Amino acid sequence: MKKDAFKFFNSKYSVDEYTELYKKIRLDLRYPANVKRLEIFINLLKKHKPKKIIDAGCGAGMPLIEIKKKGFNVYGYDKAKNMVLEAQENLKKNRLPTNLVFYDNFEKPKKIKNNSVDCILGMGAFFYSKNFKRTMLNQKRQLKKNGRLIFSLRNRLFDIATLNNYTKIFLDEIFEVKYLKKEWKPKYKKLTKSFTDRKKYKLKNIDEEGVYSLVHNPLTITSEMLELGLKCEGIYFYHFHPLPPVFENFDQFYFRKISWKMENPTDWRGYLLASGFVVDCKKI
Ligand SMILES: C[S@@+](CC[C@H](N)C(=O)[O-])C[C@H]1O[C@@H](n2cnc3c(N)ncnc32)[C@H](O)[C@@H]1O
Repeated sequence: MKKDAFKFFNSKYSVDEYTELYKKIRLDLRYPANVKRLEIFINLLKKHKPKKIIDAGCGAGMPLIEIKKKGFNVYGYDKAKNMVLEAQENLKKNRLPTNLVFYDNFEKPKKIKNNSVDCILGMGAFFYSKNFKRTMLNQKRQLKKNGRLIFSLRNRLFDIATLNNYTKIFLDEIFEVKYLKKEWKPKYKKLTKSFTDRKKYKLKNIDEEGVYSLVHNPLTITSEMLELGLKCEGIYFYHFHPLPPVFENFDQFYFRKISWKMENPTDWRGYLLASGFVVDCKKI
């Protein structure tokens, strides 16, 4: 059984981590994927210039503070009470009012009125939903007509480029290996046998922490959103991997350096080499 995301994020470890993540880019400490993601969100805000913005799942509030400092009218909420407290501390440190951040749940929202918001942001948040479609519809309801829903997702197609057990699972699914005729099964197994489990390496991701989350396909997200009355007007990639992630274990700093150089949100290779993407939608 996977852990609930907000329980994981309520821990002291996560709360501290989400304050630290946005301080200074230090490739020796961590890969600044969230910093890149925030840059994509801020560029979209500058383009659309929304009046009232809500940051859903705002965590420790560092992105919200950065957005506020750029002159936007932004509020945020989180389901993890310790994240709300940390965000309020961070607001105080930045001489901003603590009531910019409050407690709410994007799966069962209570605090935000229907048709009242110009833009909702979900930075690393909505893919923790148990019912993703319902979460999207909840957000849509709160938006005014032509309001924007801008959110990041985990890229399912990246599984092809990892060349590990994620690749094996992905290929088994798209080739429908469970229906393969008996004589072909060993041949297929031989071909894919080098796609071994990444767990033996030291670098962990959110799956290995046992936290529940979803992955999405950037090739189908536009039609999935349209069915919900949300018109997708752009997809932007971040957290590029110039080589399969196992290489990060061989020379972490060099791997991070060449990854950072490669970051380009509109590079088509992002469909396969970026582990995350940002979707920019409009309520129609
Ligand atoms: C990966 S963190 C991202 C935090 C912040 N947006 C950032 O970019 O730094 C995800 C956040 O979503 C919150 N979260 C998860 N499920 C939630 C829900 N149903 N309603 C509101 N927040 C939720 C978690 O508590 C956590 O703070």
